[in-house]
Amino acid sequence: MYLISELASLVGLSRTTLLYYEKLNLISGKRLENGYRAYSERDLQQVRLVQQLQSGGLTLAECKSCLESKLDRSVLKFRYEELEQDIERKQKSLALLSSLLGENSSKSWHQTLAEVAPDAHIDWLKVQGFDEKQALRIKWLSKDMNEHDKYMQDFMSVFEALESWGPNSEADTSRAYELLSTNPEKILEVGCGKGNSTMLLAKLSSAEIVATDNEQNALDKVEEKIKQNNLSERVSTKCISMTELDFGLEKFDVIWAEASAYVMGIENALKKWKSLLKDDGTLVFSDLVWLIDDPSQEAIDHWKSDYPDLQSVDTRRSQIEKAGYELQHTFTVSEQAWRSYYEPLEQRLKEVASKMVGSQAVMDIHKEVDLYKSSLGEFGYQFFIAKKL
Ligand SMILES: C[S@@+](CC[C@H](N)C(=O)[O-])C[C@H]1O[C@@H](n2cnc3c(N)ncnc32)[C@H](O)[C@@H]1O
Repeated sequence: MYLISELASLVGLSRTTLLYYEKLNLISGKRLENGYRAYSERDLQQVRLVQQLQSGGLTLAECKSCLESKLDRSVLKFRYEELEQDIERKQKSLALLSSLLGENSSKSWHQTLAEVAPDAHIDWLKVQGFDEKQALRIKWLSKDMNEHDKYMQDFMSVFEALESWGPNSEADTSRAYELLSTNPEKILEVGCGKGNSTMLLAKLSSAEIVATDNEQNALDKVEEKIKQNNLSERVSTKCISMTELDFGLEKFDVIWAEASAYVMGIENALKKWKSLLKDDGTLVFSDLVWLIDDPSQEAIDHWKSDYPDLQSVDTRRSQIEKAGYELQHTFTVSEQAWRSYYEPLEQRLKEVASKMVGSQAVMDIHKEVDLYKSSLGEFGYQFFIAKKL
């Protein structure tokens, strides 16, 4: 027999709790001659059994019904599902902590966070010691902090040698330029890469052009081209992030961003760049969009991970209007532009294949090129010519 204090210490519960158990008839002490209550071995086991049932998520009342064989299966089923969800949440927490400790990949966590809280995600990465350039790249490129440096290095080894860093062609850029309603005097180019469009815009217009990118190596190439073409008087470069374009208010007639605004997110770019435009200025950008309503599962899965903000032209149109622009023209970039982007890229992948065996970046680029070849037409680049209202 056990006194209540002894039973309490054996099962790790308070006297008050045991008295409550007694009130619920879960245990039943016997009053001794000296007035104390005493509990049997059976009571001890009964409390242990209740504790086991509680660890399955049952309430005390449910434990009691269970002991009396009165518990409805649906209650057990409900508790079971609740527990399963709890385990799933805890497993995610475990995976997150382990990725933060550098023990496994944090890719899926970054993907989720980039979707549900894009700005907070970038801020948090900066607090972790990444500069903004790296943070944006983690967001859009590798999305895996632990693999990031190596991934970026490999990625740049492939791309550095290429002339074109995105699907563009002289014909498409010229077509977009000709759709402008006025001749611009000042153009700001964002994410100019090695300056293919910069040079063409300089040829097509007599505007002063500031070509920006956050990759100095690419800007060095643009500088060479500016010199070769004697354009130093009106074309200049600046190494600056697209999120920190500190040129002052209403300075440009046109902002030109081919295959670059996605880096900071289209809606963000529409909002942040607007004040740089003069009153009736125009934002010209190209972006990857869905071109059909029912793309293949392969394409959906790929872009869900690599560009989760991939939208239809109609969605982009309403975002443009909501941000205070009038969409004046839009057209799909030609297949020729794609070919002049991915054919040299494919050739480059062949060149580096033996030197970069097992590189995740190379495998990802391969996968993307394969998708271009199999599914182009389901998605594609689209030019948007939007006038500030
Ligand atoms: C897909 S490439 C497009 C380049 C070029 N506009 C074209 O169409 O060939 C994206 C460009 O954006 C630049 N970029 C990436 N992040 C940037 C950032 N945070 N600020 C400015 N430029 C950035 C890259 O260096 C690269 O040149």
